[in-house]
Amino acid sequence: MSEGVIQNPSTQSHTGGMPMEPPPSYNDAVVRKFCVMAVVWGIVGMLVGVLAASELAFPFMNLNLPYLTFGRIRPLHTNAVIFAFGGCVLFASIYYSVQRTSRVRLFSDTIADITFWGWQLIIVLAALTLPLGITAGKEYAELEWPIDVLIAVVWVLLGVNFFGTLWKRKEKHIYVGNWFFMALIITITVLHVFNSLEIPVTLFKSYSAYSGVQDAMVQWWYGHNAVGFFLTAGFLGIMYYFLPKQAQMPIYSYKLSILHFWTLIFLYIWAGPHHLLYTALPDWTQTLGMTFSVMLIAPSWGGMVNGLMTLKGAWDKLRTDPILKFMVVAISFYGMSTFEGPMMAVRSVNALSHYTDWGIGHVHSGALGWVAMISIGALYYMIPRVFGKTGMHSVKLINTHFWMATIGVVVYIVAMWISGITQGLMWKAVNPDGSLTYTFAESVAAMHPYYVMRLIGGLIYLTGMLLMGYNTIMTGKAAERRPA
Ligand code: HEM
Ligand code: HEM
Repeated sequence: MSEGVIQNPSTQSHTGGMPMEPPPSYNDAVVRKFCVMAVVWGIVGMLVGVLAASELAFPFMNLNLPYLTFGRIRPLHTNAVIFAFGGCVLFASIYYSVQRTSRVRLFSDTIADITFWGWQLIIVLAALTLPLGITAGKEYAELEWPIDVLIAVVWVLLGVNFFGTLWKRKEKHIYVGNWFFMALIITITVLHVFNSLEIPVTLFKSYSAYSGVQDAMVQWWYGHNAVGFFLTAGFLGIMYYFLPKQAQMPIYSYKLSILHFWTLIFLYIWAGPHHLLYTALPDWTQTLGMTFSVMLIAPSWGGMVNGLMTLKGAWDKLRTDPILKFMVVAISFYGMSTFEGPMMAVRSVNALSHYTDWGIGHVHSGALGWVAMISIGALYYMIPRVFGKTGMHSVKLINTHFWMATIGVVVYIVAMWISGITQGLMWKAVNPDGSLTYTFAESVAAMHPYYVMRLIGGLIYLTGMLLMGYNTIMTGKAAERRPA
């Protein structure tokens, strides 16, 4: 092993280089349940996203029903894709990898089951309350206080199970993927608890404990770090475990992964104010947020390079392995969105991009390109294993899914880039006498073709997810078993 390079401990062997068979006592039942629900919620969440996209292109698609209006469907979409789909992927990946990197069974099977059923209950409650218009009104933290309490309990239980498993581990070393999961679990607990401090008025209504600009600042400290820790750190943990496993290569540089970890978590936490540029937030706070955002490019790209270089010497595998293709494209999108984000955090760029569809394009290059693609790769890795099968039912379908996802995300973000920049320029255009060149309604009308294009991109991506659903069912049903 060369200096600065360490093998994923679960592939590394203490028995003379022979790959170790996992002891049969791992709790894969809970992983299986989370994997299946991740596929289900992925389909549901993206279906709701497609509905939202169709309403922006064709407003009659809300069928004139209050439950389906854009304002209610949008948070339903974000909660479904981030917390239901992304959350189930994270639970599955954490439970799967922490057992293997620690070489012990989960700390508690009962707690694992409670987290599974608790998380599903939270999702169902979200799906019922949001269309009914019951909301705390904070982005990515819309759920009302009783559900917030439930989230805190389930999340802390995940922490107990994760740290308990690490505590009784039989592997001296704590693999870097677990460091990212630790950061995810601890930070999300703190963010969720403090951002959700609210005064309940009834069972379904509460008011934030903060007010005015402080409320905005706490909200975006939460909002940005929900991106940084839930949608980034957690999925980097997934990258660090599943990419080397699928590529059957050691991670490129262990030193770089440690540097990546500490710089990322140190820098992310300060960057929230970039969501509040040109607001009543004190100017120095905005500058601080902008500066840390620009610095964030370094650890992010360090992580991307570490991921991509892991394939050094094994690039040929990409020709035949669609799971690896998902992972590599995901890492490339991670690099792209973490280049775009710091750029958008610069005041002068934000003056053009803020409030426009450019933001939506950035979000989805991160969400569909990075988060969903790395999730899909990890799920295709885990599903046959936790069902005890030799592989997925159809590799051809995974390949088709890969192309649909890639084309879908590109169509989506290109549409949003064009519409976002057009919007920004139209809103800023002034006549020689100082009056606005365009009315707001004119800018809305100009967006129509791009909204239709986004809808098409979304439909293509969703169809790929449906193929995954079919492939998962067929894999579960297959008669053949994995040899012991
Ligand atoms: C078929 C796939 C998807 C479609 C068609 C879709 C569509 C949409 C639409 C129409 C919006 C509202 C845009 C607006 O307000 O102008 C939206 C917002 C959002 N979506 Fe998606 N989406 C998809 C997948 C995803 C996934 C997988 C994630 C996360 C993992 C995600 C995360 C978000 C977030 C965070 C927002 C809010 C963005 C903001 O406030 O700036 N979406 N999506
Ligand atoms: C170095 C990394 C990143 C930086 C510095 C960054 C920066 C930014 C900036 C400046 C905005 C626009 C704020 C505004 O004008 O309102 C933004 C929005 C957003 N970004 Fe990023 N970004 C990064 C990476 C990512 C990644 C990887 C994802 C997804 C996985 C992501 C998800 C989002 C979301 C969801 C929003 C919309 C927030 C909202 O207004 O609802 N970002 N980001």
